[in-house]
Amino acid sequence: MGKIVAVASQKGGVGKTTTCLNLAVSLTGLGKKVLLVDCDPQGALAAASNLKRITDKGLVQLLTGELQEEDVVIPAGKRSLALVGSGVLETEDIFFLEQQAVSGNLGKAIRALSVGYDYTLLDTQAGLSRGLFQLFSDVDSVLLPCTCKATTVKTLPLFLKFIQQARQSENHRLKLEGVVLTMYNESDPCAVEVSETIQDAFPQEIFFRTSIPLLLSFEQASLRAVPVALLKRDTLAVQAYDKLAFELVARQKGGEGRNE
Ligand SMILES: Nc1ncnc2c1ncn2[C@@H]1O[C@H](COP(=O)(O)OP(=O)(O)O)[C@@H](O)[C@H]1O
Ligand SMILES: [Mg+2]
Repeated sequence: MGKIVAVASQKGGVGKTTTCLNLAVSLTGLGKKVLLVDCDPQGALAAASNLKRITDKGLVQLLTGELQEEDVVIPAGKRSLALVGSGVLETEDIFFLEQQAVSGNLGKAIRALSVGYDYTLLDTQAGLSRGLFQLFSDVDSVLLPCTCKATTVKTLPLFLKFIQQARQSENHRLKLEGVVLTMYNESDPCAVEVSETIQDAFPQEIFFRTSIPLLLSFEQASLRAVPVALLKRDTLAVQAYDKLAFELVARQKGGEGRNE
């Protein structure tokens, strides 16, 4: 059975979109069939993956009934990867998408889209919204990117509580897939200190063993609107998400997943 993973965090700029795109590519390298869904009205995933050059339609048009599933699922370079854009074109589309998330229609539509995929990764908007809470009814787990900055780390307890409350009231099967440290710079003493502090403050098992290093190639890849693997220069960057993908798959095989 496939798995729907929401990549989410209270903070913006922590690597949600970068993680979605690059993790998806790495998962296809492990033979997995992956669907990427851009639930963020800002459409960063569509921009980062060049999807906007092909279509600006997506979830909004699917939910209004203007388009069908087969019209909004766009195969990416590899046949095992496909994308669905947010379809947000106007301000009212943003409100519409949020309202569809709150009503549960967005979650149901994503569930239907996810059939036949091993992993469906959802790129989400930063923040703790009613819509995200409701969306958690229809996802299997939440993957939480976190930078080693004091301002990001301070948001962790509330976000973990948010997941816990969604589990209690909306979806008893909801798991915390894990927290992944992103943009980690091991030569920055502040980052090292923050990383040690949070790993002491929370149960070890909520963290992925893999962390994603701070590397210029991620910025270069996002400038060129491609996953980092297509730059073919920085093996360190590619390996980081390959390792994360491997760990994600291994966790699923081992039946891991946390409820805290
Ligand atoms: N590991 C990394 N090293 C360097 N830059 C990164 C890394 N991950 C992401 N970035 C850059 O940081 C910015 C924010 O990342 P993004 O994935 O858009 O965050 P979010 O989706 O959480 O807002 C982007 O410009 C992206 O290219
Ligand atoms: Mg984003």
